[in-house]
Amino acid sequence: NKGRYEHYMQKEIHEQPESLTTTMRGRLIQGGSCKATTVLLGGLKDHMKTIRRSRRIVFVGCGTSYNAALAARPILEELSGVPVTMEIASDLLDRQGPIYREDTAVFVSQSGETADTLLALEYALDNGALCVGITNTVGSAIARKTHCGVHINAGAEIGVASTKAYTSQIVVMAMLALAVGGDTISNQARREAIVDGLYDLPSKVREVLKLDNEMKDLAKQLIAEQSLLVFGRGYNYATALEGALKVKEVSLMHSEGMLAGEMKHGPLALVDENLPIIVIATHDACFSKQQSVIQQLHARRGRLIVVCSKGDAASVCSGGSCRVIEVPQVEDCLQPVVNIVPLQLLAYHLTVLRGHNVDQPRNLAKSVTTQ
Ligand code: UD1
Ligand code: F6R
Repeated sequence: NKGRYEHYMQKEIHEQPESLTTTMRGRLIQGGSCKATTVLLGGLKDHMKTIRRSRRIVFVGCGTSYNAALAARPILEELSGVPVTMEIASDLLDRQGPIYREDTAVFVSQSGETADTLLALEYALDNGALCVGITNTVGSAIARKTHCGVHINAGAEIGVASTKAYTSQIVVMAMLALAVGGDTISNQARREAIVDGLYDLPSKVREVLKLDNEMKDLAKQLIAEQSLLVFGRGYNYATALEGALKVKEVSLMHSEGMLAGEMKHGPLALVDENLPIIVIATHDACFSKQQSVIQQLHARRGRLIVVCSKGDAASVCSGGSCRVIEVPQVEDCLQPVVNIVPLQLLAYHLTVLRGHNVDQPRNLAKSVTTQ
């Protein structure tokens, strides 16, 4: 039931304040007499010791689910101190990459039925790793075959393009980072800031959804373009990959997400006054590096669209012209949840304006059960 919306993708983008609330419900527990909040992931509590002691955590997924894990990787590394590596499921299988008994392998999948991810799970089980699932579908193959896991509880996702599952996956993995990371004096303030940030996230997402008309207007400007680049780094490298994936899969416009740190090593050759480039430059430890990327793009007369934190519009684009999209600032590791929303809206509006099927993109299926 699409309710007051025209398409499922549109409905699912707009219901993210609610789906995020459901994802967190009952999992952030305010601790009795002391103010501290503990994270309770019921499905993992008996396995927490093994996860903490593992030599490595390996994220495995495809498409949007892989991107969500990439967004959560920095905070899991920071809080757990365990090295975190990334595997695209098909590539792990192609290489028969090393997976050890001392590894915790985390399988991220909205449907829980993706063939590549499922086969990678069977491979990791054979190799003796602890296998953890992060799925949206109770009773799915991945939920059943993993040793333990977390349901993201985002509610059924019907549009082929994954939107609300992506943001709920990131939130579950941020909670996983809090749960795995020890509660030490030195990281107490950081943990509290993340927990406060999680509580505030639904209202910040509600706020960023107000950009709907602005993104529609931007889509009108981009409607006839051949190609679009998206640059991000740090926490928002994943935002660049995911934003570009959304645009290409539904609007059928070529788009590429790129690591901003790699710009000088090739992509810079593409820059001219015609190619539209989105730069994610919200306020975090990488901000000054992104400012210098923007300056270098200006120097090549790049056609820039900059996503920045509220209040940074003037400083982010000094010395050149660009279109600025201001988003509310949240705790840095949660910023990808806010930043993807305008790009989801852009992909949606581009698709409708270009006259393509939003909920059933050409050649795609919701759940990819063949290899
Ligand atoms: C569970 C209940 C929830 C109830 C809550 C109350 C289910 C599905 N969930 O939620 O309805 O409100 O207790 O305490 O009945 N699992 C995997 N692989 C996966 C995902 C999950 O093995 O990919 C396992 C978990 O280890 C766990 C079970 O499935 O044993 C349920 O997981 P989850 O729904 O996340 O647990 P709770 O949040 O505790
Ligand atoms: C993108 C998209 C796909 C899926 C991928 C994995 O919007 O929907 O890239 O993310 O096929 O699917 P799941 O998460 O079901 O394993």
